[in-house]
Amino acid sequence: MEHVAIYPGSFDPVTNGHLDLIHRGLKIFDRIIVAILKNPKKQFLFTLDERLEMLRASLNGAPHVEVDAFDGLLVDYAAQRGASAVLRGLRALSDFEYEFQMALMNRRLNREIQTVFLMTGMRWIYTSSSIIKEAAQFGGDVKGMVPAVVNERLVAKFSRPADRR
Ligand code: PNS
Repeated sequence: MEHVAIYPGSFDPVTNGHLDLIHRGLKIFDRIIVAILKNPKKQFLFTLDERLEMLRASLNGAPHVEVDAFDGLLVDYAAQRGASAVLRGLRALSDFEYEFQMALMNRRLNREIQTVFLMTGMRWIYTSSSIIKEAAQFGGDVKGMVPAVVNERLVAKFSRPADRR
């Protein structure tokens, strides 16, 4: 039987920490579907299409990985895609409460879907899309924390006048 996991998130934008987790997840699962939540309520720096594009470019055709977008309940999407697990990364202590809450809710909603946590690689333990965006916004160099394609997009986004972003 094929073991498929959904790796869900906002990916605004994808970081090297996310990529590390996907590559390590592939040592456990036969296939990973990286799925971006279509969330019209939340404000994102990058559009859904840009985030999908950056993820696809960063993964560079890696085998056994698919990039997709979903709306509605994550467990419903997982079941519909034939996935039996949700993969999430755990960084420092601050992630625990939110992740546990989400995992327990997902379990309540569908007991057939298991949440699997992988500890984020040490190099990425304190990085997040939000902190990277903040640094980049003020001209900070985030090369090495994000894939090259994302770095280029961040530089382009923040070097333009605010009204053209
Ligand atoms: O990277 P993020 O923004 O922390 O990802 C959050 C995400 C997309 C995994 C979470 O918001 C989600 O799964 N939303 C889908 C709606 C849902 O199923 N909610 C109930 C369980 S919390």
